[in-house]
Amino acid sequence: MKLSFTTLCYGASALLATNIYAETIAEINGNKFLSPYRNKDVSNVTGLITAKGPDGFWIRSTKPDQNRKTSESLYVYDNGTVSGNLTSGDVITLGGRLSEYRSSSTYLYLTELTRPSNVHVVSQGNEVNPVVIGQDIDGPPTEQYSSLDNGDVFGVPNNSSQISAVNPELQPSRFGLDYWESIMGELVTVRKPVAINKPNQYGDTWITGDWNKTGQNARGGLTLTAQSGNPETIVIGEPLDGTSNPDDTKLGDSLKDITGVVYQAFGTYRILPLTALSVISSQEPALPEPVTYAADGTCKSLTVADYNIENFSPNSTGVEGRAEHIVTYLNSPDLIFLQEIQDDDGPTNDGVVSANRSLEVLIDAISQVGAVQYAYVDIDPVNNEDGGQPGGNIRNAYLYNPEVLELAKPNPGAPLDATKVLAGPSLSFNPGRIEPNSSAWEASRKPLAAQWRIISDNTTFFTVNVHFTSKGGSSPIEGDPRPPVNLGIDQRTEQANITAAFIADILAEDPNAAVIMAGDCNEFAFVEPLKVFVAESGLIDLDEAAGVDPVERYTYLFDMNSQELDHIFVSKKIADQEPKLEHMHVNTWVSYDDQISDHDPSVAQLNVC
Ligand SMILES: *[C@@H]1O[C@H](CO)[C@@H](O)[C@H](O)[C@H]1NC(C)=O
Ligand SMILES: *[C@@H]1O[C@H](CO)[C@@H](O)[C@H](O)[C@H]1NC(C)=O
Ligand SMILES: *[C@@H]1O[C@H](CO)[C@@H](O)[C@H](O)[C@H]1NC(C)=O
Ligand SMILES: *[C@@H]1O[C@H](CO)[C@@H](O)[C@H](O)[C@H]1NC(C)=O
Ligand SMILES: *[C@@H]1O[C@H](CO)[C@@H](O)[C@H](O)[C@H]1NC(C)=O
Ligand SMILES: *[C@@H]1O[C@H](CO)[C@@H](O)[C@H](O)[C@H]1NC(C)=O
Ligand SMILES: *[C@@H]1O[C@H](CO)[C@@H](O)[C@H](O)[C@H]1NC(C)=O
Ligand SMILES: *[C@@H]1O[C@H](CO)[C@@H](O)[C@H](O)[C@H]1NC(C)=O
Ligand SMILES: *[C@@H]1O[C@H](CO)[C@@H](O)[C@H](O)[C@H]1NC(C)=O
Ligand SMILES: *[C@@H]1O[C@H](CO)[C@@H](O)[C@H](O)[C@H]1NC(C)=O
Ligand SMILES: *[C@@H]1O[C@H](CO)[C@@H](O)[C@H](O)[C@H]1NC(C)=O
Repeated sequence: MKLSFTTLCYGASALLATNIYAETIAEINGNKFLSPYRNKDVSNVTGLITAKGPDGFWIRSTKPDQNRKTSESLYVYDNGTVSGNLTSGDVITLGGRLSEYRSSSTYLYLTELTRPSNVHVVSQGNEVNPVVIGQDIDGPPTEQYSSLDNGDVFGVPNNSSQISAVNPELQPSRFGLDYWESIMGELVTVRKPVAINKPNQYGDTWITGDWNKTGQNARGGLTLTAQSGNPETIVIGEPLDGTSNPDDTKLGDSLKDITGVVYQAFGTYRILPLTALSVISSQEPALPEPVTYAADGTCKSLTVADYNIENFSPNSTGVEGRAEHIVTYLNSPDLIFLQEIQDDDGPTNDGVVSANRSLEVLIDAISQVGAVQYAYVDIDPVNNEDGGQPGGNIRNAYLYNPEVLELAKPNPGAPLDATKVLAGPSLSFNPGRIEPNSSAWEASRKPLAAQWRIISDNTTFFTVNVHFTSKGGSSPIEGDPRPPVNLGIDQRTEQANITAAFIADILAEDPNAAVIMAGDCNEFAFVEPLKVFVAESGLIDLDEAAGVDPVERYTYLFDMNSQELDHIFVSKKIADQEPKLEHMHVNTWVSYDDQISDHDPSVAQLNVC
């Protein structure tokens, strides 16, 4: 029995009881994400074996069509039952059950032929040539992931539809997910691959290849921007020959050409390489040049840094490493906004909330390598109320050079005191937490506000140190919900709005006030929470004010993207006086084992006079 494509698409339900004879692999795959043959039996499918893996093998059509939307290859999941005598280069016919598989509802499906039967070898020793991406076919599109993202992969509402429900027709030249789906199962070669993140614990490594790219930063990574989510990337997964990918690959490493099969698992498209990745060379220098900003102790050149030092307690490894970053790379700034300071016994969950010892250990380590003897300011949270690692009681804190500045009229707030803006302007509690009882801060860090005085000239300025709620648990950027679920976005928007209202109160008292907001916002500048923050606070993104190239705005690596979770915003007074800013890539550039925090610090020189 032989059916035309039209019959298969529109008349298939009448044929459920019988085996369907599929003429080609292209017809089995169809031109959408889900196969028209899902959960149906097929027979006498002909294909050339292009690769073998531990649980199956890949076949390529011997009768390709001319349609770029229909993949010519297919994964056969055999669980070791039939592939024993088969080898790459065999042309075979077989039947089986067409299945769509995923291990989580937030992932896309993998199309596979299961329960293979009636396997016949037609011929052996045929040539197997990979498809060279960027040469035999165009490279992937460079900006959008899916037609269902409404033009913005981080747009709201998120999860307004799902690929599995809509099953859109593929547009491989426009959308990244469609591109990789349209070559699902294909044996491909990536020329001149470059690593764009560090491998995960399984050695899976995000790369880009010798094709068109947007958002490339000077290190060779691809930076997330408002215009581009970087779908011109792919993960290299577990090698098919049982070898392991290296675990010390770094951002920007050049790799040997990769040949492997396109696959879908763990929430991403991926290439399973025939053999392990191999690094040819790494970028130089290994670490960035230290900043050259020099403070002079006056309001004209205040140096300020922001650094999430990742779950820091006296017992942390890398105490000296953090001190070295602050002294050598940031040049001992006058004021440092820190996040993720844990209490004195770290994750031990025993009611201890004070972080005095944690901060003193860091300050001592800094004084071992540098000339500044810092002082610190923080407010202990209520035990186990601020989220993060259980028992760790992370909070935001300031280190400051007491020879340069001090709190203006100190009056520290208790954990549940809300500091308010008074006439002057001044703060009712200094330092104080902002609206600590608001439900917006449930299981999250409360912002730490302060007013400072520069000792040499009596200039005062305001700071707000934030650590908004995490994106952890978001659905994968290449997953089923579109746009992807950006977990915590509603809470972050509320947090940004409350922080902004507080800052707007300062600027209502004095439109010329010097105000600095900095911290780990767990969000990108062009996504709802920070758009609301800027609109409501009146502050200006320091990246903009200092003219940092959009592709160099990154402090973190996640999946395929170099991205900026950590931000500094300043009032117009500061923005207008030639501010300087650098993101110091001491952690994103090194291997996973050598990184001291998962975030890079940023350092600025500001005129707050
Ligand atoms: C299988 O397909 C081939 C052509 O590809 C055809 O010659 C053969 O008759 C088919 N066999 C069956 C059992 O349908
Ligand atoms: C795969 O094979 C193993 C043993 O050979 C068996 O235990 C397992 O159930 C099979 N899995 C599937 C999905 O068929
Ligand atoms: C492999 O070939 C041998 C000899 O032809 C046969 O006995 C065996 O069953 C085949 N194994 C598989 C897994 O097909
Ligand atoms: C690069 O982009 C241009 C213009 O869009 C296109 O014509 C070309 O085919 C692309 N090259 C690759 C390798 O994808
Ligand atoms: C994001 O998606 C989640 C899950 O569907 C939903 O609860 C949340 O309200 C959405 N938020 C926005 C802003 O779309
Ligand atoms: C996305 O929305 C759908 C439909 O409302 C819902 O079933 C699903 O749980 C949501 N996904 C996530 C990850 O929240
Ligand atoms: C620090 O680590 C040591 C050794 O691992 C342990 O004995 C000690 O209890 C830890 N101290 C704190 C405060 O967690
Ligand atoms: C921590 O230090 C502050 C002064 O900086 C002091 O008021 C407080 O009592 C100290 N807390 C503990 C538990 O020692
Ligand atoms: C927050 O709530 C606590 C009681 O849980 C109360 O003692 C405190 O005064 C409240 N703070 C503010 C600013 O309302
Ligand atoms: C700063 O203020 C103090 C007291 O308000 C005053 O004694 C001092 O002279 C002032 N210093 C400068 C440089 O204005
Ligand atoms: C921000 O808060 C104000 C109240 O202070 C509210 O009117 C506004 O709707 C909020 N905006 C957002 C985007 O949540």
